[in-house]
Amino acid sequence: MSLAQKKKIYWSLGFLFFSLGIAYLLWPSRSLEPVSVNQVFANAHWAKPIPNLPPLAGVGEVRAENCGRCHTEIYQEWKTSTHANALSDIQFQSELTKSSSPKWLCLNCHTPVANQRENLVNYLQNGDYKLPIEEKNPHFDPKMKAEAITCAACHVRLDEQGNSYVIGANGETKPPHPVRIQPEKLRQRCLDCHNANYELDDQLVCAFKTGNELQASKATHGKETCGSCHMQEVQRRFVKAELGTPVRKAHKHAFIGGGVPKRFDLYQKQIPGGYRIGLKVDPIRWSFLKNGLEYSISIKNEKAAHNIPTGDPERFLLGRVSILDQKGNLLEKKEIKFGQEWEWYPKAKMVSDTRILPGETKNWKETFTVHSSNSPTRIVLELYHIRLKESNAEYMRKGNDLATEEFKRKIAKVEEHYPFSSLIYKEEADLRTQKRKLYSPEELIRISSNRRGE
Ligand code: HEC
Ligand code: HEC
Ligand code: HEC
Ligand code: HEC
Ligand code: HEC
Repeated sequence: MSLAQKKKIYWSLGFLFFSLGIAYLLWPSRSLEPVSVNQVFANAHWAKPIPNLPPLAGVGEVRAENCGRCHTEIYQEWKTSTHANALSDIQFQSELTKSSSPKWLCLNCHTPVANQRENLVNYLQNGDYKLPIEEKNPHFDPKMKAEAITCAACHVRLDEQGNSYVIGANGETKPPHPVRIQPEKLRQRCLDCHNANYELDDQLVCAFKTGNELQASKATHGKETCGSCHMQEVQRRFVKAELGTPVRKAHKHAFIGGGVPKRFDLYQKQIPGGYRIGLKVDPIRWSFLKNGLEYSISIKNEKAAHNIPTGDPERFLLGRVSILDQKGNLLEKKEIKFGQEWEWYPKAKMVSDTRILPGETKNWKETFTVHSSNSPTRIVLELYHIRLKESNAEYMRKGNDLATEEFKRKIAKVEEHYPFSSLIYKEEADLRTQKRKLYSPEELIRISSNRRGE
């Protein structure tokens, strides 16, 4: 072998080892160990869905649709609820289709039973929530998936033998299906999802503290549970009349909240479902000073045992006062916000919180300068409950890389499909005659259902 040939071989060998070394360093699975979800998210009960629930004796598949064969009224109410719409929610779908979204985690609260999941996640590569190891779920039920927070999410669990049973709160009933009476467990279930306070990393935090807020209001609100207000009592049969069961104390299942439903057609279900504003608003007070009009507004959180607004940090209340002249021309508009402000980068943190605490009263006072060229004659107060800001809707319209064509079309015109906000209070007063008009809940719902956008 000539020297030149030897050199060539050494170079080739050198190059081969060099390439192998690089490949070794870059090979993805080299440093990735599967770590169990339970280990990474100890104490976070929402890190996994409820285990697969087999068919319930006397009922069949544990779908809401099946429960609805006998529990007809409850089923109809539940179908109008935000719970039943927690998967089809356009905002949720839009967030889910962003490539950065930890879908598997989001779905644990929005579709909380394993039967609703194509894939299950028991392990994370390297314990990283962004690298779930997905396994096919042989018990996947696509119909049940569409039901989102279905009856079984609160009512069905596995017994010691691995059979499904229903959790009830009453007893002395004779259902055709197995039932265990565990009222506390059933009533406390809300907190598993509505009291999640967790930091995944610098940017992604879960900050729902409605349960803690309720706890803090114990002194004024006593032993109330979420259901005391969100599941109104009604006297009726639990099941359709043909089954001949007695009329009992029962509960509405529409789970109405702040009066901003997920679709425009659901506005008409808000009042029958139990919607009522949590605020007590005093009539506007005003007085004419030497060269000004002084007015004040007083708003109390009277009926909610938690902050208003609660839950999602994006929400806020907007108060708006307009001063008009005799012809209805706007002379001045002043606004105030009650809500949280967050800073998301470099680290998510709440920078201010002006939400209204249970029992708290917010007073708002302003002065309008009167001069020779204006003559204020009318004052209007409006309160809006805002769920989605236009700036966030714009963000939704932009980044929906993975959405299906159908959703892309909906998201592009999200304001036509999705209520962003509702008008929850309106008062008009004539500054001279003192005559006032107060809008009724029905009028407000009608106006809201015709509004579009923020
Ligand atoms: C074939 C009819 C039928 C079906 C289907 C059915 N139920 Fe029932 N269920 C009943 C009857 C009857 C009662 C007892 C009513 C009474 O005595 O007032 C009952 C009672 C209950 C109770 C109250 C028990 C208590 O004492 O507090 C709950 C909760 C309940 N069912 C949930 C469900 C759920 C969830 C499903 C679906 C997974 C379901 N049921 C499916 C007929 C049915
Ligand atoms: C988000 C949780 C949740 C969901 C979802 C839910 N329920 Fe309930 N349900 C409850 C709670 C809590 C009670 C007990 C209320 C009490 O007694 O304080 C209850 C009570 C009941 C009762 C007893 C009668 C009554 O009205 O108090 C029946 C029957 C029932 N639910 C059936 C259903 C059916 C059928 C579905 C689905 C269509 C369903 N529930 C969905 C939480 C839920
Ligand atoms: C499995 C998780 C889960 C459980 C359990 C749960 N919720 Fe919810 N709840 C949600 C999610 C998710 C939403 C919001 C869905 C959306 O906006 O798309 C929601 C929304 C609501 C709303 C807001 C309705 C609105 O449109 O403003 C109310 C009120 C509510 N839940 C009450 C309750 C009550 C009361 C209970 C217990 C009886 C309960 N929830 C149990 C997950 C849950
Ligand atoms: C004393 C009655 C009461 C109790 C108890 C109560 N709520 Fe509410 N909740 C209300 C009222 C009233 C509203 C409507 C507030 C408004 O005017 O916007 C509301 C609104 C909501 C909303 C909609 C978000 C918003 O800001 O409007 C959610 C979600 C909610 N409640 C969840 C819960 C949960 C979860 C619990 C239990 C931890 C609970 N509530 C306990 C009265 C109550
Ligand atoms: C611990 C349970 C839980 C997890 C995990 C969860 N959510 Fe939710 N989500 C909720 C509850 C509860 C609400 C309702 C809060 C309220 O109305 O106060 C909600 C509401 C929402 C809403 C509606 C907000 C509104 O104002 O109407 C969107 C959108 C949403 N979630 C997206 C997501 C996304 C995206 C993820 C994953 C990054 C996720 N959620 C993970 C429980 C959860």
